[in-house]
Amino acid sequence: MKDVFPSLSRRLFIKAAALFGASAAITPSELFSETAGQSMSRRTQGRVPVSIASANGLEATRRAVEGMRRGDDTLDAVIAGVNIVENDPDDDTVGYGGLPNEDGVVELDSCVMHGPTMRGAGVAALRNIKNPSLVAQKVLERSDHVLIVGEGALRFARAHGFREENLLTDAAREKWLRWKERLSTKDDWLPEHGMEERDIGVLTGAEVQRPTGTINCLGLNDRAEISGVTTTSGLAYKIPGRVGDSPILGAGLYVDGKVGAAGSTGRGEANLLSLASFLIVERMRAGDAPTDACLAACRRIAEQTKMKRLRDKEGRPAFNVNFYALNVRGEHGGASLWSGKQYAVNDGEESRLVDSAYLFAR
Ligand code: GLY
Repeated sequence: MKDVFPSLSRRLFIKAAALFGASAAITPSELFSETAGQSMSRRTQGRVPVSIASANGLEATRRAVEGMRRGDDTLDAVIAGVNIVENDPDDDTVGYGGLPNEDGVVELDSCVMHGPTMRGAGVAALRNIKNPSLVAQKVLERSDHVLIVGEGALRFARAHGFREENLLTDAAREKWLRWKERLSTKDDWLPEHGMEERDIGVLTGAEVQRPTGTINCLGLNDRAEISGVTTTSGLAYKIPGRVGDSPILGAGLYVDGKVGAAGSTGRGEANLLSLASFLIVERMRAGDAPTDACLAACRRIAEQTKMKRLRDKEGRPAFNVNFYALNVRGEHGGASLWSGKQYAVNDGEESRLVDSAYLFAR
């Protein structure tokens, strides 16, 4: 991506120079006013380059900032960040090592969005390729489409030289097997058991948990350019072909180069019904601080959760969704429906975790 947009950055710089006087006097923060539109102030509030991510993105944000510092395009930088997690067999919610669908097959979803050019693309239900974020970027760069799914996404990836491999690690397979064997006392799959045991196969504890973990990563450089990526293996043990919010622009990720970026992790079905990343960016455009915009998205989801099976005894959502937002001034925030969540930040020093705001305390 690095070589594709140099003229755009130059044009922004020249236009800003014309607005503010001699180019030598221009600081990166002054450029923000050119790209940020009416609702954003002239000065950056935070340090740049800056990257934020879901809590599993400490390394990703460090890598993203390192890339932006040496001049990588913001989209290349955040994708390189999440590739670390996609390649990590120990993160069972993203890429290689992700928990599989109900048939034991890993299916991955991702989307990317590049603020300077307002281009974006996604892939969904992609099998056998451990870096769906790179395939999504390829869809952006080398097709006229915005979303390619399933077999078509795999064929597109193959055509572009992506290597196929089995993404199911033994650890993920064993978790899936425990879930499958305990799912019902009426089917033919039996967990290990003693000779005298009856009612074999009741889900307890960890097997009941079906993670919707994901990584979202957003990055802003010192030219006020912003991009984002979201990538996931989706809901554990899902129906094959199930697609969550992560590959859907406006849901799992949205970026507006003049305003900021937002992304999510958590129950994708809830977010798909509210397109909350788009909502958050629009709230920031109207003047909300990132945390307030994320809380507004949480409130929207809580209001929209009508079905009894999805609510607790007090009528609150019985699931969690987490949002992350970064505006073009470098301000960031995060919020979740339920307390106890954090997000990762790197603005030049060590990556750190910051507490997210929340609607409901556990
Ligand atoms: N947010 C990830 C998913 O629901 O698939």
